[in-house]
Amino acid sequence: MDVPGKRDDMIVHQQEPYNAEPTPSALAEHVLTPVRAFYGRNHGRMPRLDPLAWRLSVDGLVDRPLELSLAQLREGFPHHEVIATLQCAGNRRAGLMAVRDIPGQHPWGPGATSTARWTGVRLADVLAAAGLRAGTTYIAFEAPDVAPEADPPQPYGGSITAAKATSAEALLAWEMNGAPLTVPHGAPVRVVVPGHIGARSVKWVRRITAQDHPSDNFFQASAYRLLPADTSDPRPGDGVALSSVALNSDVLSPDDGAVISAGSTTVLGYAFAGDDRTVSRVDVSVDGGRHWVQAELAEQVSPWAWRLWSATVRVPAGQVEIIARAWDSAAALQPEHAESVWNPKGYVNNAWPRITVTAR
Ligand code: MTE
Repeated sequence: MDVPGKRDDMIVHQQEPYNAEPTPSALAEHVLTPVRAFYGRNHGRMPRLDPLAWRLSVDGLVDRPLELSLAQLREGFPHHEVIATLQCAGNRRAGLMAVRDIPGQHPWGPGATSTARWTGVRLADVLAAAGLRAGTTYIAFEAPDVAPEADPPQPYGGSITAAKATSAEALLAWEMNGAPLTVPHGAPVRVVVPGHIGARSVKWVRRITAQDHPSDNFFQASAYRLLPADTSDPRPGDGVALSSVALNSDVLSPDDGAVISAGSTTVLGYAFAGDDRTVSRVDVSVDGGRHWVQAELAEQVSPWAWRLWSATVRVPAGQVEIIARAWDSAAALQPEHAESVWNPKGYVNNAWPRITVTAR
């Protein structure tokens, strides 16, 4: 399937299913990523759903199972907007692959991260209408797209805790940056779970189930889990199921490998921390970490959004490594080396970003 409406210069890791990220410079242009530049992450062929025929079922541990049309969803609940960054757990995997190969996974750069204004209804309001029963600890989602890579092949799904699902920020969204959701981003309706890894923001959602255990879907029980580096034969349930996004940052300009003028140089990037954390400081060094310049942080447009940053540094002539590091509101610092965070599936590379430029 072709993917209409994306920039021509997207870095396409896979055409079918479509997996692509914007170039670092395209990502640096806007706090709200235009839909044309927003990364796309798909595990199966994108379903084209008829919005009039689409139904959302809400079942499981509820007093009143629901089946809602798009009109009922839009007319039956108050509308809410949240500006939120989506970050794939595989973001920056290329940095882990440089340490040790990770067969069968896409080498995402810094661009499996983007930010949008999402409009829809609160998941909490829909769950309240269904009447969550005592004992509900997880809310599971299911979509119609079948992922061949899953074992056995199955529709995409996952779950979040009932606490997160009933938070003010979790949405069932039909708009992205003020326009109707496009097919690649989950039309007619997707889940948006701000602060959690992108995998939990299930696109084309068709079923929501209240239950007393996490989803047993492949993408909850087997994929998107952090495994110890020496794991050879993981079983479902092994490792840590990824949910909150760990503090991360990357450099978006100059490009890695660029030839620049020696002297004063502006370095641009983003930093993001999930759930109850926000970014509080970013530093940049051009001398291997002996000296650091504190970056200027752009406005925090929402508690659920990244912060773009810029720093002006003096780059000496020659080959120079530019390093950045971020702190969050809990005073956590990113880990220094990718070697220490390497894991078999290549998730959560939040090591200090490093690019090399030649200054003349
Ligand atoms: N939802 C469905 N139904 N199928 C998918 O493959 N991919 C997930 C999530 N929701 C996925 C999905 C992953 S891994 C991410 S990172 C985000 O969607 C990406 O959202 P985007 O393609 O809108 O950027």
